[in-house]
Amino acid sequence: MKITSAEFIISAVGPAQYPTDGLPEIALVGRSNVGKSSLLNKMMNRKGLARTSQKPGKTQTLNYFQVNKMLYFVDFPGYGYAKVSKSIKGQWGKMIESYLSKREELRFIIQLVDIRHAPSKDDIAMYEWCKEIGIPTVVVATKGDKIARGRWLQHTKIIREQLKLRPTDTLLIFSSETGQGRDELWAEIKRRLYE
Ligand code: GTP
Ligand code: MG
Repeated sequence: MKITSAEFIISAVGPAQYPTDGLPEIALVGRSNVGKSSLLNKMMNRKGLARTSQKPGKTQTLNYFQVNKMLYFVDFPGYGYAKVSKSIKGQWGKMIESYLSKREELRFIIQLVDIRHAPSKDDIAMYEWCKEIGIPTVVVATKGDKIARGRWLQHTKIIREQLKLRPTDTLLIFSSETGQGRDELWAEIKRRLYE
């Protein structure tokens, strides 16, 4: 995918700040530190446009990025980060829940899980909840560079089983370090938006 423009638009704290131009939106969800912002930077070919950090909990708002004037990526705060205060957690929860259940522009979500680990309870709950309310999900296993290629299948098998993916459900392997999976994910996005 050739990137002709990639722009940070807004860190939204609520619906009043969401864009109003009706472009399709794709939300990135997953545990803190799983690599959502890094994946976005790789997809957009813009190092550092989405802020990344070794410290989990970096992203705390819905961060909108417009790509090629054709879609928005919405970078979500990570879930499952214990150190944030309860009240902040509650606020995030509400904002995310209402975005996911009400936002008409949302076309599907990309749910990230770390290829090295079995999905957490939060991962499973998130996947099930999205399925329940009817939001299509593409699962991406991140940090593919952290394990040998020969072990990918073994790890993705566990992820598939625990999330109860059907054989036809998409699971892609990604690495923000090597660019592994970038072309496949763009192909998947285009297919879902335009076919
Ligand atoms: P929050 O904003 O806290 O929810 O985290 P996030 O999911 O946006 O994670 P982020 O992209 O900030 O990445 C967290 C850490 O993992 C950073 O140190 C990244 O450099 C590292 N990381 C992310 N993706 C990869 C990857 O594919 N491979 C490797 N080796 N490291 C990665
Ligand atoms: Mg982030």
